[in-house]
Amino acid sequence: MEERSQGRVARLELSNPKKLNALSPSLIVALHARAKALVDDSDLRAVILTGAGARAFAAGADIDTLAKLDEETARGFITSLHQAIDAVRRIPVPVIAMLRGYCFGGAMELAAACDMRIADTTLQAGMPEVRLGIPSVIEACLLPRLVGWGKASELLLTGDSIGAEDALRIGFVQKLCAPGDLDAETEKWVGSILAAGPRAIRAQKRIMRGWEDMPEADAIATSIAEFAAIHATPEPAEFIRPVLERKKG
Ligand code: COA
Repeated sequence: MEERSQGRVARLELSNPKKLNALSPSLIVALHARAKALVDDSDLRAVILTGAGARAFAAGADIDTLAKLDEETARGFITSLHQAIDAVRRIPVPVIAMLRGYCFGGAMELAAACDMRIADTTLQAGMPEVRLGIPSVIEACLLPRLVGWGKASELLLTGDSIGAEDALRIGFVQKLCAPGDLDAETEKWVGSILAAGPRAIRAQKRIMRGWEDMPEADAIATSIAEFAAIHATPEPAEFIRPVLERKKG
């Protein structure tokens, strides 16, 4: 956790060094707990989610765990992975996935559940589950809206992986940079978020979640309520004043 003058920026790191940060049961529990703990932090402004080390964001679900599953334990394992990813998705401030190296299966779903993704050129992403004889489930359902049905079908039905340039081209990542620049480029996004209105950013994220889950008419009605509500706070006046002063000056 980093304390900045404008509020807190949390860094969540997936770490399972012997297995390229594979999502093991203990890593999943730890991620869930960290994400849940951030929900009530009113000074939190942004979250960076990344993998430990230079080789991987995460190489997907832990294959040693997958190999031992039966019908009952399969349900439990995949539910716990969904709950951890969902806890990340419910963090009320922007969550940036900072990706390098391998990003497969559940890790690609976790990245898709973040608000935006930046990668360096070492990124290799894919959904290889069908090659392990299992379908891609849970937050794989976010991929079609992120990259379109055609590309999502190609990824899920072939299990082929894509490199960083393709990940950028299809819109899985929004920004690509050289390996040495990843932290600095991510920091530019964090800087923009910190410069904006904290209540406005949280409202914007809530509104966008509404766009995903609600019929258009409900999403619009909710956003009108949000627009009115933020005017009950000093934030709009505070952020508009310097703009007006610049205009006058
Ligand atoms: N689960 C468990 N262990 C994993 C893993 C995973 N998803 N991905 C990698 N590892 C382990 C490897 O078994 C290896 O362990 P070892 O050193 O004890 O043999 C270690 O991490 C390093 O991996 P390695 O395969 O040697 O690295 P690589 O650079 O040659 O290949 C991958 C990397 C990611 C291409 C390859 O490990 C791979 O295909 N992993 C499985 C990816 C996958 O199918 N994930 C989706 C699961 S749904």
